[in-house]
Amino acid sequence: MTLRFGIWAAVHGSRGALHDPDEPFDASWARNRSLVLEAEALGYDSVLIAQHTANPYDDDWDQLEAWSAAAALAALTSRIEIIAAIKPPLYHPVILAKMAQQIEHISQGRFAINLVNAWNRAEYDKAGIQFAEHDERYAYGREWIEIVEALLRGVRVSFKGRYFDISEFQLRPADPYRARPLIYVGGESAPALDLVAAHGDVWFINGQPLENVKGLIESVRSRKRAAAPLRFGLSAFVIARETAAAAQDAYEHLLALAAKDADIRARQKQNTDPAVVMKHTHTYSKTPIIGTNGGTFAGLVGSYDEVAARIDGFGQAGIELFMLQFQPFEAEMRRFATEIFPRIKAAAAKTAAAA
Ligand SMILES: Cc1cc2nc3c(=O)[nH]c(=O)nc-3n(C[C@H](O)[C@H](O)[C@H](O)COP(=O)(O)O)c2cc1C
Repeated sequence: MTLRFGIWAAVHGSRGALHDPDEPFDASWARNRSLVLEAEALGYDSVLIAQHTANPYDDDWDQLEAWSAAAALAALTSRIEIIAAIKPPLYHPVILAKMAQQIEHISQGRFAINLVNAWNRAEYDKAGIQFAEHDERYAYGREWIEIVEALLRGVRVSFKGRYFDISEFQLRPADPYRARPLIYVGGESAPALDLVAAHGDVWFINGQPLENVKGLIESVRSRKRAAAPLRFGLSAFVIARETAAAAQDAYEHLLALAAKDADIRARQKQNTDPAVVMKHTHTYSKTPIIGTNGGTFAGLVGSYDEVAARIDGFGQAGIELFMLQFQPFEAEMRRFATEIFPRIKAAAAKTAAAA
């Protein structure tokens, strides 16, 4: 299996500490455009554009809009996979499927959606959109993705369920590049696992230690599934340096900066649905976490060799795509490409020679 590496777009600025003189706040289109173009040139395989309508830390701060940015990035790039996140209640499935199919065309077969079922209650409440309770959001999401998936395959869809009533709807043009754009799913609760087993192509796991990841992969593999075997992605915040001691220093530097965000984190906690599993998983970490979606809990903090070896361990457990966060993003993304990519390639060549 060839490992793939992706980056989280800077949709709401920094992923680790929010007040960092080495990474002044910037969630602009201009910054994201050059970030993704550079990632593609460096050899990264994928970009994940998270979806938030308002900045989840502070709504006075800027927030990049995921779907219009995905369309523009699709036109500007030529190789990198573009994944846009989507929270089902924000778009009717027919409209969203049409947008996804259009971006698939613009990108010539490089587009994917990441279905997420939301944690930030404020985003819905302030807009007057109903924020249903956790499992109800998943029930809605399952009907929604069933419709989107069929429309993306180009079939004529009729569907009558609890939430939707669709008659004979068909999207044209269909996908000329493959059966349909890929469907990623993020979420860790039992209904998330059921949803990904039934409707996902790739499951995004929040950053956490290898043993947890192995357990989660086993759990989802034990579920009934009709489609091709599920693939796996892992979110992680990377701090890699020449030595483990230097990486630890860099981690502590970010932790000290992150201490300035205590008020923002407290507000974010208030806005978070307490039923969301991601929030509980992180409390198992014995050390404070830098980054979102597990961040440094995945353990990619260490010397270049340690980080490369841990990535290899996750790869052997079934992780195929590493969706990475850095800070300062651009500089650390370059460092990872320079230092870790060659180590991963060398390890893969060694494994191939031994086989
Ligand atoms: C890789 C990944 C990406 C995510 N992206 C977003 C996002 O763009 N917007 C958002 O609101 N939530 C995002 N989430 C968080 C999910 O909304 C959250 O995990 C969801 O509520 C699932 O809850 P659960 O873990 O209880 O199943 C993401 C989660 C993962 C794992």
